[in-house]
Formats: sequence, structure tokens, C-alpha cells
Amino acid sequence: QNEIYFGGLHGHIPKFPMCYRDLEARAAQAMAPGVLSYVAGGCGDERTQDLNAEAFNHWGVIPRMFVGAVKRDLSVNLFGMQLPSPLFLAPVGVIGICDQDGHGDIATAKAAAQSKVTMVSSTLMQDPMERVAQEFGDTPNFFQLYTPTNRDLAASLVSRAEAAGYKAIVVTLDTWVTGWRPRDLTTSNFPQLRGLCLANYFSDPVFRKLLARPVEEDPVAAVQMFGRVFGNPLTWEDLPWLRSLTKLPLIFKGICHPDDARRAIDGGADGIYCSNHGGRQANGGIAAIDMLPAVVKASGNTPVLFDSGVRSGSDVAKALALGAAAVGIGRPYAYGLAIGGAAGVSHVIRCILAEADLLMAVNGFPTIADLRGAAIPAPPWSR
Ligand code: FNR
Repeated sequence: QNEIYFGGLHGHIPKFPMCYRDLEARAAQAMAPGVLSYVAGGCGDERTQDLNAEAFNHWGVIPRMFVGAVKRDLSVNLFGMQLPSPLFLAPVGVIGICDQDGHGDIATAKAAAQSKVTMVSSTLMQDPMERVAQEFGDTPNFFQLYTPTNRDLAASLVSRAEAAGYKAIVVTLDTWVTGWRPRDLTTSNFPQLRGLCLANYFSDPVFRKLLARPVEEDPVAAVQMFGRVFGNPLTWEDLPWLRSLTKLPLIFKGICHPDDARRAIDGGADGIYCSNHGGRQANGGIAAIDMLPAVVKASGNTPVLFDSGVRSGSDVAKALALGAAAVGIGRPYAYGLAIGGAAGVSHVIRCILAEADLLMAVNGFPTIADLRGAAIPAPPWSR
């Protein structure tokens, strides 16, 4: 109340935008064209990407009264870890490209730690994972693996993540090859991307052994080697090997079919991550949120993380109501980083969580357990 009404009465104008539409517009002004294409762009005519956000209107949360949800508890228990918030930062590779001061992974990690929100760090970081981990504080953070074709290199990346204190490994399955992205094809951003995402490779002892000359002496050959080993088209036969890489919770990202969820769980997955990569990898699908209920059902007691199209606190509440164990955002925080560095990321997190918390207050859901099942398909005329 105080902030929403009385701040305005006293003429306080917030420094950063308060909703996604304004955030996106401000970020579009702040970002160079190639950077904007990289972050905002998706696959094909971007219909799946657009649907991801629009389809939250297919679902509505039905409020409950006489609950008096004066205190809310938004914490979740994931793999035995108590997380203060159900929101997490999805892995965004080459995030350094969005940061005015460079070092976007570090700025994002600082914001995540300050906000007590879990961050999933991409393989494609500008600073080595060990440096980024120094910013984590008490909040458990996860490492996202793009599995290279070289198995020793994959094992090395995972064991480095374990040693650095990452608390779970997220293996992304849908990106062994890059999807058809017209915006990236139209705007040249390769020079920016190249320097800003290979720190984990360049600092890796196994990767360095693959090179004829040290990275520092021949960076071009090192980038070419990265191109050769990046992107392993994994099959079910690889699952036991992936499982053997770590004792940490193992989560598979990009699973949208219930049969795939079941099979991954049978093969030892600790978590399923339902996502269509924000519509960046394949067009022509359906919205991720519309696939979530079936994946949750097929996953039984195994937690299902979710992202793709989440833009607001009410989107977070809907995904939780549909059974997500935790809910991720990608582009929203990349835009926050672009307009305000770590402070911009913290602002985006705070707005989304504040809206989710107030929705739970108004609608009578003191805990996330109470929220489960509260979203129903909206009738076509109210979508
Ligand atoms: C991504 N995403 C992603 N996923 C992943 O597993 N590893 C990665 O390195 C990246 N890199 C990446 C870069 C950029 C610029 C974006 C926007 C996204 C996908 C990401 O984790 C997440 O699935 C989507 O961003 C979620 O959709 P929204 O929130 O952006 O709609």
C-alpha cells in the first residue's frame, strides 16, 4: 500500500519500468541492434515464442475468500533444498552481451544472491564458472550443461561445477544445433558473441589439451575447436553415462512430452524441466504452459521446473497452480540487465515476486501448496 499509493502521492517516479511491456520497450532502446536480435529473437516467424506468453491467458486462477492470507510463504523445497522463492533465473548464454559494464554472469549472480533467487548458469559464460560462483552467497545455484561431443570435456565441466559449489546440473537437450533464427541471420552479432561466452571452455584443462597451441597464442583456432566439440545430439543410450557424471540432482531441460518425462525419470533424472527454450529453437509448436499439465502428471513425484513466456507474477502463480515446482524467466532479466545491470535484474525479480505475492494475498493462497490446482482453463470468450 505504502509503496503503491503513497509513493505516487509524494511524486515518486520509479527508476525502472514496472511491467514487462515497458521493460521490453526500454531495453530495446538501450541495446545495440545485434544484441537485441540475439535476446528478443526466436525461431521462424516467432509464432511459438509469441504463443508462449499469450497462452497464459488460456488459464485463470480462481480466487478463494474468507482465507485471510495475511502471511504468505513462497518458499519451495527442491531436491531437499529449501529455496526462499519459487522463481529462478533460467540459463541465458552470452548474457555478458547485455551488460553495459560487461561481466553479465557476475552481475546476474550478484542480483540473484541479493534477491535469494536461484540462478541457473549457462555453459556459455563470459567468466569462468568458478569466478561466478564466488557471488552465490547462501542461495543454491545450478549449472546448465550444453553437452559437448567430447565425453571427457563434459565430465570435466560437470566436476568443475561440483567443486565450485553448484547444487544441481541442468542438461539442456534441445540445443545441440541452433534453431532457424531470422533475426540473428539478419543482424551480425557473431563478433560480440565470440568473445563473450567461451570462458568455461578456454579455462578447461581437457579443452586446452585438445588444442595444438595455447588459447592465448591462437584464439582463432580455439574458437574453431569449440565449434567442433560443441553440441552433442544426445540419445537415450547416453542417459546412463550422463547419470554417471554426477551425484548432484540431475535435471533435463527441454522435455515437453509426457513419454519423454517418464523415460528420463526411469533413467535416473531427479528433475524434469519443461521448456521450449522460449521459442528460440523450434517454431510450430504449442505454448510451453499448455504442455506443462501433462508433463507434471507424467512426472509423478519428480519435480518439474518450467520456463518459456513467463512475464509477470500472475504467470508465475499460474505455472505453480498447474504443478510447476519452480518457475524460470529468461528474457525479462536479460532486459533488466541491459537497462540497469545488477540493479535492473533485482528490480525485475522484485516486481515479479511482489505481484505473485500480492496475487496470493488477494486470492487467498497462503502457500504454494494451497495454490496447486487453482488454475483452470479459461473459457474461449475470456481469453
Ligand atoms: C536462452 N536460453 C538458454 N537455455 C539454455 O539452456 N542455455 C543457454 O545458454 C541459453 N541461452 C539463452 C540465451 C538467450 C538470449 C535467451 C533469451 C534464452 C533459454 C532460456 O534458458 C529459457 O528457456 C528461455 O529464455 C525462457 O523463455 P523466456 O522467459 O525468455 O520467454
